[in-house]
Amino acid sequence: MDKKLHINLERVPKHVAIIMDGNGRWAKGRGMSRIFGHKNALTAVRESVKAASKIGVNAITLYAFSTENWKRPKLEVDALMSLLINSLKKELPDFMQNGVKVNSIGSTDQLPKNAQKVLNDVISETKNNTEIILTFALSYGAREEIVNAIKNISKKVVNKELTLEKIDENTINNHLYTFNLPEVDLMIRTSGEQRISNFLLWQMAYAELYFTDVLWPDFREAHFYDAIIDYQNRERRFGKTSEQITE
Ligand code: IPE
Ligand code: IPE
Ligand code: MG
Repeated sequence: MDKKLHINLERVPKHVAIIMDGNGRWAKGRGMSRIFGHKNALTAVRESVKAASKIGVNAITLYAFSTENWKRPKLEVDALMSLLINSLKKELPDFMQNGVKVNSIGSTDQLPKNAQKVLNDVISETKNNTEIILTFALSYGAREEIVNAIKNISKKVVNKELTLEKIDENTINNHLYTFNLPEVDLMIRTSGEQRISNFLLWQMAYAELYFTDVLWPDFREAHFYDAIIDYQNRERRFGKTSEQITE
């Protein structure tokens, strides 16, 4: 049965963020090295972007590498970086064909130079695409992002470009890496872990959270639609009462 048919196209989340987790366990379960799991993660990325695009999601953000992931064994970090480079190169024609605009968040200046170059090239090649914005969170940490925002805002106050009284939530929004993205409506995490792991802390203030036991390399279009259907069955009250919402 086509799960997509059960989705209300009028109430699709604008921005879906995904913590792509479980590659290591997927590989271990097959008696293989963790890196084998990362190599098998690309299909899930493709399927998620395709599914999101089909139902009209405007933005999809994928947590690909955290500031904390630098602590992993060098062999694994190196493998992840070369996979990133190869996958971006390989996917570029599909991004162009499907109108995918690529974006990144995080301290991407920490990435190896060749990864930065490929990333910047893909971002610039796809900049006029309008179907969907695909953001890769790379060397991303929400606490670091907030620290950077505070520093940049403080600089403006010191330089008298901004007064204290003018600082509000929009000021913060505009100084985060995600300044050009809509609010996160839905956050999906695979692999059964139920935590945020320093992802989009500010941006997820009112996001609906969806956890699934499916390991990331097994995640497919139908799983993505399951998450959307679950999201659509929730009542987003934003502090109001249920009666106020249904009125
Ligand atoms: C997610 O899978 C990929 C990255 C964090 C880069 P993991 O590598 O965390 O896989 P598990 O959680 O160990 O199974
Ligand atoms: C979070 O996954 C980061 C990414 C998916 C890139 P981890 O597997 O690194 O998270 P923790 O450390 O188990 O919380
Ligand atoms: Mg993990």
